[in-house]
Amino acid sequence: MSRHRRGDAVVAPRQAPTGAPSAPGAPGEDLVVDARDLTLRFGGVTSLDGVSLRQRRGEILAVIGPNGAGKTSLFNCLTGAYRPQHGRVFFSPEPGTTHQLVGRRPHAITKLGIARTFQNIRLFPALSALENVQVGIEMRQRYGSLSTMLGLPHMRRAEREGVGRAVELLRMVGLEHRIHEVSASLPYGEQRRLEIARALGTEPRLLLLDEPAAGTNPAEKRELAELIQTIAANGISVLLIEHDMRLVMSVAASVVVLNFGRVIAHGTPAEVQRDPAVIEAYLGTENGESTADAAGAAADAPALGRKDLD
Ligand SMILES: Nc1ncnc2c1ncn2[C@@H]1O[C@H](COP(=O)(O)OP(=O)(O)OP(=O)(O)O)[C@@H](O)[C@H]1O
Ligand SMILES: [Mg+2]
Repeated sequence: MSRHRRGDAVVAPRQAPTGAPSAPGAPGEDLVVDARDLTLRFGGVTSLDGVSLRQRRGEILAVIGPNGAGKTSLFNCLTGAYRPQHGRVFFSPEPGTTHQLVGRRPHAITKLGIARTFQNIRLFPALSALENVQVGIEMRQRYGSLSTMLGLPHMRRAEREGVGRAVELLRMVGLEHRIHEVSASLPYGEQRRLEIARALGTEPRLLLLDEPAAGTNPAEKRELAELIQTIAANGISVLLIEHDMRLVMSVAASVVVLNFGRVIAHGTPAEVQRDPAVIEAYLGTENGESTADAAGAAADAPALGRKDLD
């Protein structure tokens, strides 16, 4: 495992000029995301401090770290919600195609093929499950609101196709029995899956999930793990923020660990779970506890430092 402290070689040596496409990764390496040296500040608070992250195409990559580590800020930089003061993000929806994302608006990034769910669920509560997914699909369709208002034939056809696709996606996330229920009436775990269906409606090549298991029960977590694997098996790369290490261990090929806005480790789930810097970040070494003791304790724990995380 490589430890990625600021100043380490993981920060790409060359900085591409603004907006210029650049082949991400080393020759022969197929990356869907190559984020380089992202720094994001809010007044005196530094949310991201030279963060670099590389994700292989098709990979399920987890981002973990204590509360306030900068995980959601990273997603916000990847989706255009926040603009970092420094750094570049190269996104490659297909091999041979690369876009630099910093400076683009969120809807443009959605169109390029990145979708997300939110840490605090953001559905349209009064709309049905079907309508919520249709919203995602319509973000992708090329006909604007004037066509919709005029009820033009091509728009009606697109709408019919959209309904079919929405039903398909609801079936994929296990919500076919909820199609006509308003989203606010769904149990919490189902609302999280509905958000995933809506995100999939935009036809992403990369799906960002911000704590999809938060507030769900063990059975729902198992279903979620299966769903994430199904999504990846369909060729969609998944970037997953998650505190539940059991879920991370079961689905992620590799894990990036953030702490105080910096990448402190990057490796397989098993590697990061026994990394002393990671254990220290979660558990601290207070009360005279040695790092080795903390490592042992955390290695046994299903979730790193749960006391800090729930
Ligand atoms: N819009 C904002 N304005 C000011 N500070 C912000 C803003 N967004 C994030 N921050 C700060 O950036 C830091 C990182 O926050 P972020 O939400 O990215 O952490 P996180 O790792 O997602 O934490 P959690 O596990 O609690 O969700 C925090 O100190 C937070 O207060
Ligand atoms: Mg967060």
